[in-house]
Amino acid sequence: MPTFDLSTTPAAEARADLLVLPFFEGRQPGPGVADVGKALGGDLMAAAKAHDVSGKLGDTLTVPTLGRIPASSVLLVGLGPKSGVGEQQLRKAAMRAGSRGSKFGAVATTLGQVGDDAAASAHALAEGMALGAYAFTKYKQRPIDGNAKGSSLKKVLVLADGGKGAGGAQRAVKAAMKRGQVYADASNWARDLVNTPSIDATPAFLAGEAEKMAKAGGLKVKVWTKAELKRGGFGGILGVGSGSANEPRMVEVTYTGAGASAKPIAITGKGITFDSGGLSIKQADWMETMKDDMSGAAATLAVMRALTLLKPKVNVITAIPFAENMPSGSAIRPGDVLHHWGGKTSEVLNTDAEGRLVLADVLAFLAERKPRVLIDSATLTGAAMVAVGGDLWAVMGNDQTLIDDLLAAGDAEGEPGWQLPLWKGYRRLIESTVADVKNVGNRYGGAITAALFLAEFVGDTPWAHLDVAGPAFVDGSNDWWPRGGTGSPARTILRYIESHA
Ligand code: BES
Ligand code: ZN
Ligand code: MN
Repeated sequence: MPTFDLSTTPAAEARADLLVLPFFEGRQPGPGVADVGKALGGDLMAAAKAHDVSGKLGDTLTVPTLGRIPASSVLLVGLGPKSGVGEQQLRKAAMRAGSRGSKFGAVATTLGQVGDDAAASAHALAEGMALGAYAFTKYKQRPIDGNAKGSSLKKVLVLADGGKGAGGAQRAVKAAMKRGQVYADASNWARDLVNTPSIDATPAFLAGEAEKMAKAGGLKVKVWTKAELKRGGFGGILGVGSGSANEPRMVEVTYTGAGASAKPIAITGKGITFDSGGLSIKQADWMETMKDDMSGAAATLAVMRALTLLKPKVNVITAIPFAENMPSGSAIRPGDVLHHWGGKTSEVLNTDAEGRLVLADVLAFLAERKPRVLIDSATLTGAAMVAVGGDLWAVMGNDQTLIDDLLAAGDAEGEPGWQLPLWKGYRRLIESTVADVKNVGNRYGGAITAALFLAEFVGDTPWAHLDVAGPAFVDGSNDWWPRGGTGSPARTILRYIESHA
């Protein structure tokens, strides 16, 4: 993780390996561009024109400085139309800069001078840089781009406008940068867990990581073993985990930032360490990314970790299910009936609809604690991706205020979602002839019938379910993310919790 510092040094004098300067659509210069151009004995916008770079969001041009200024290279980064620039554009430009900067030790930038709200800009800038600098290299022996250890970005010097950034404003900007960094760090920590292959990231391993994290942050933690889950009546987690040699776990973590009498926010996430589909086995190409099926759990743990650093005055509880969905002689079969925590039963007609089975137990378990709200996130259905595409999460629930607040938090964090209806008319599709509910509907509306299954277990607790099957993992890299986990929706939930403290 890079460290961030504020300085009022003029851009042309900043000491760094890479100097990042913003410009806008139509090659309008951002802060520092004119002065640095002059110091280099040229015109950076003319250089952009010569290289046919127009200033669209994410455009870049690297210019060597040949010793004319202390920085060895200038990176021009496009922010799009000048009139529309806000936090969202700034975060994306910073991600691009962080990714380029990951090959350098020290970066200086005037990006923080863009946007009307200095604190919001500082948050987005630090967050974007730290997210962009992330690389997963744990399993690389051969170096990537000459760099086996991943990102070498150590320092980011945020160049403030000497006129503006004084006194109290400086303190607010520094605090906002720190928060942005904590948010990105939480996401990056979740990304490490998601990217770690299932051969290593077993239920026991992830429970161990949760325990280490909790102890380091002074959180209360309890890991439930298979035997304890049996005694406790967690039939969904046990059933899904029964086909694997890697035994299931459940992890409870408690953050107490408010008085003991304050009702907690409850969060949880799907922790399937690998989803082969079980006996209803997936075809090979659908299995390729299924180490990501614990993204909801990773994001939930990342939120708990960030709370220990941000210390909001709120209580937050979790119970996270971890299991591996494998086919074997001890696996559950289509037609089996599971007894969930709290007594409700489900008929398993497709063992690949396993996420709802493990979540049923923990949702019922957490609902009994009477939380203010209950939020789950899960890579639950391919149907959510069909409905809203790969970039958005789908949200459904029984409390419109909670849903609206989560959508707003996601928009603010650049992790947007979209609501789907939790339409009771489809409840008939999951009616079972032998149990209280069955785990699949028909071909259509699969994200909704999955959410309706979960709804059976929350009672009247205000609850929202985020189906993050799309945004949790990028398969094959896109414009902003490398291939792998994104940490979504950790930042959304963190922002929600902070604004409800
Ligand atoms: N983990 C998958 C959902 C998924 C698919 C996540 C693609 C990310 C990318 C989930 O357990 C699953 O297999 N769902 C089935 C449900 C079906 C059997 C009712 C699906 O979506 O096909
Ligand atoms: Zn799954
Ligand atoms: Mn599945």
